[in-house]
Amino acid sequence: MKAILLKEFGLPENMYIGDWETPQPTDQELLVKVKATALNRADTMQRQGNYPPPPGASTIMGLEFAGEVVALGKRVSNWQVGAKVCGLLSGGGYAEYVTIHKDLAMPIPKGLSFEEAAAIPEVFLTAYQALIWIAKLKEGENILIHAGASGVGTAALQIAKAVGANSYVTASKGKHETCLRLGATQAIDYKTEDFEAAILEATNKKGVDVVIDFIAAPYFQKNIQVLGLDGRMVLLALMGGMKVAQFNLLPFFIKRIQVTASTLRSRSLDYKIRLSQDLQQFAWSKFESKTFQPVIDRVYDWSQVAEAHTRMENNENIGKIILKIT
Ligand SMILES: NC(=O)c1ccc[n+]([C@@H]2O[C@H](COP(=O)([O-])OP(=O)(O)OC[C@H]3O[C@@H](n4cnc5c(N)ncnc54)[C@H](OP(=O)(O)O)[C@@H]3O)[C@@H](O)[C@H]2O)c1
Repeated sequence: MKAILLKEFGLPENMYIGDWETPQPTDQELLVKVKATALNRADTMQRQGNYPPPPGASTIMGLEFAGEVVALGKRVSNWQVGAKVCGLLSGGGYAEYVTIHKDLAMPIPKGLSFEEAAAIPEVFLTAYQALIWIAKLKEGENILIHAGASGVGTAALQIAKAVGANSYVTASKGKHETCLRLGATQAIDYKTEDFEAAILEATNKKGVDVVIDFIAAPYFQKNIQVLGLDGRMVLLALMGGMKVAQFNLLPFFIKRIQVTASTLRSRSLDYKIRLSQDLQQFAWSKFESKTFQPVIDRVYDWSQVAEAHTRMENNENIGKIILKIT
């Protein structure tokens, strides 16, 4: 098969379409012809040599896909050849074919294209896991979502709205309109405004119940400040740095704060299956009624993968960048 390969770790230009062995499904797997995949920051880090795939995962980049089933493992009875599926991968999505466990594959919500379906798995599963499973966000609560126009941010905003929570986001100014359209009560331009002051003012000093953060070190102290009583923070990335020189533990006790750092790629197959099935229960009818939308920034042909990576690394995207596998 053809796949996007790497001459060596480094620049986007090091990627090229070359020949690779077609994966073979095990007894419990489907073989899928990939129609579309989507970019994740993990891919750009992997390309640079800073994020080795977990043991056993394909060394090809790509954490999600949408496509059509072309063959079934011997013990697969819940799918048929020709079914349209999407799902999470621990690698291998930048290719013509992938294999996926029969219970991890998800049917494409009715009415959605392959490109739209490829924009769902990674960010909606991450956001659902963070907001619902970990933070246990409830109706009427306040949530602060950093990087509100990111792939994960745009999914988190829609999930928060569906729960009936009140969302605040940080994002660069040009991305505010999308965040407000997706349900944010207020968008804060973190480049010119102090998000701590803005949140405390907006909530009459009460603070928020939940913070979803990707920026880490430079936001850590302020996140603690904006969390209210019994506040929960979910840390999903370290985009701004990983070391906090000094912080005060007292607010953790006074406000009974919980901080959880989470990942998705390294979770067990069983965990990913349960999460995927729970997300389908929660979200699939919402996608079909257009209450939820995969937010797509741009669709590229996979021959333009270098341009696509550069766009993400320049923080230009709002929502997901898609690669069409042609
Ligand atoms: N732990 C997990 O389970 C998990 C799962 C999926 C993704 N992730 C991670 O979550 C992060 C977001 O992923 P994504 O695919 O949604 O990203 P994305 O669509 O590429 O968006 C990231 C956005 O973050 C903002 N940003 C970047 N650096 C920033 C900084 N230093 N300060 C403030 N804002 C900054 C930028 O938007 P502005 O223009 O608004 O600044 C950028 O466009 C990535 O680091 C990814 O690896 C974690």
